[in-house]
Amino acid sequence: MLERILVFKDTKALCEAMAADFWGMSLTQGVKHIALSGGSTPMMLFEVLANEFNDKIDWSKFHFWWGDERCVPPDNDESNYKLAKEYLLDHIDIPKKNIHRIHGEAIPEKEAQRYGQEMFRHLPPLDGWPSFNLLLLGMGEDGHTASIFPNQMDLLNSKDFCAVANHPVTGQKRVTITGQVLNHARAVYFMITGASKAETLMKIISQNTGYMSYPAARVHAVNGSLNWWLDEDAASMIQ
Ligand code: 6PG
Repeated sequence: MLERILVFKDTKALCEAMAADFWGMSLTQGVKHIALSGGSTPMMLFEVLANEFNDKIDWSKFHFWWGDERCVPPDNDESNYKLAKEYLLDHIDIPKKNIHRIHGEAIPEKEAQRYGQEMFRHLPPLDGWPSFNLLLLGMGEDGHTASIFPNQMDLLNSKDFCAVANHPVTGQKRVTITGQVLNHARAVYFMITGASKAETLMKIISQNTGYMSYPAARVHAVNGSLNWWLDEDAASMIQ
């Protein structure tokens, strides 16, 4: 596994670089299966793609998936799909069949099974696991990634492709892609910004005692690249 850390001046510079990578991917042959992260960080990436690359990219080559979804309807402000739809999908010419949203409105356990089957049907396998061309991940201050939280580390080794998780504070149900699928992506990019993430990030990157208790520390691309893309605030405690 190739591991790289890149620090950008700010979130906009990071997102412009990622958007340029999307453009670069669009110039190569074949379908690109991309798993989008949730939370707020991807918003600026979506805006850059929608405003600066909407007519530069052949979007028919891209299939969008999600690393996780809150168990809410797709028009709920908490929905990761709603964020992507409003800031990106409504502004680009992408076939509807290329959008693979997690049905947050469905029964979570049934949706986790359905989504796992959809991934298995569409994604090329790597060692028997559905493999994304590009997996975007965020990280919470508690070191969670996707919706794998520190109190649910078993999801990192689940035999299932997709599982139901519970937010440890709110109890909100989530559907999340599990650890082995995360680790079998060809390219994993953490996009982490803001000073609030700096301490956890420092512990992970410096491999401080106990760092492996953070789910984000357990992500490694078994047959690809692991990239930590940070802004200066998030990287402020990394020597
Ligand atoms: C979610 C995410 C989650 C997110 C991190 C970072 O559904 O919330 O998938 O893993 O990426 O919590 O979120 P921010 O980008 O908002 O800091």
